Amino acid sequence: MDVPGLGSAFFLLTSVILALSGPCAARSDAPRGVALGFVFDSKAKCDPPCEHAGICIRNNTCFCSRGYEGETCQYATCYPKCKNGGVCLRPGKCRCPPGYGGRYCHKVTCDGGCWNGGECTAVNGVAMCICTSSWTGSKCQEAICPQGCRNGGICVAPGICSCPDGWLGGACHTAVCSQPCLNGGKCVSPEKCRCRPPFSGPRCEERKKSH
Ligand SMILES: *[C@@H]1O[C@H](CO)[C@@H](O)[C@H](O)[C@H]1NC(C)=O
Repeated sequence: MDVPGLGSAFFLLTSVILALSGPCAARSDAPRGVALGFVFDSKAKCDPPCEHAGICIRNNTCFCSRGYEGETCQYATCYPKCKNGGVCLRPGKCRCPPGYGGRYCHKVTCDGGCWNGGECTAVNGVAMCICTSSWTGSKCQEAICPQGCRNGGICVAPGICSCPDGWLGGACHTAVCSQPCLNGGKCVSPEKCRCRPPFSGPRCEERKKSH
């Protein structure tokens, strides 16, 4: 185990000795804050070695640098603690599980966000968008047209269909015949009249003799 230069070790120990407390604190009769009072064995061996710049101060006793704890200073510490199953990656930095974000994984996050007024909420631990009544889809990106959009129409906003050429109406249900159907004929699809007998022809303009 490499021991850092004594000068820097003393500096570190002097600066942190006042913060020591609990069962791991060095027992020493020397006045607090004095580096020489700290039981520091320069020949100490720590195996496994101290991690994260911890200092081996006695055999198998690591003095951890700020933000780390554990026998070999192997654990980073995060305060406040990482929430919702987040893992403390390095001091103050949590790695959050999917669906959570924020500094301490305390916020629910929906990948890509929620659109159109949808709200990201945890449902049984899974983040999902709760959409307003007019929208649906994983991000609330799809509008709902309760009337339906027929004949290839696309619902582009709540209740609004975008209709293909030749169709009109709230549900794209009305065919368009640029020339009106005559003699009681009905426009049944774009530019197509359904004629009443005995009429025929593109606009039902002809009277059939017989069939
Ligand atoms: C630390 O361990 C070494 C052997 O690894 C031993 O020689 C030494 O006496 C120990 N020091 C203390 C203070 O126990």
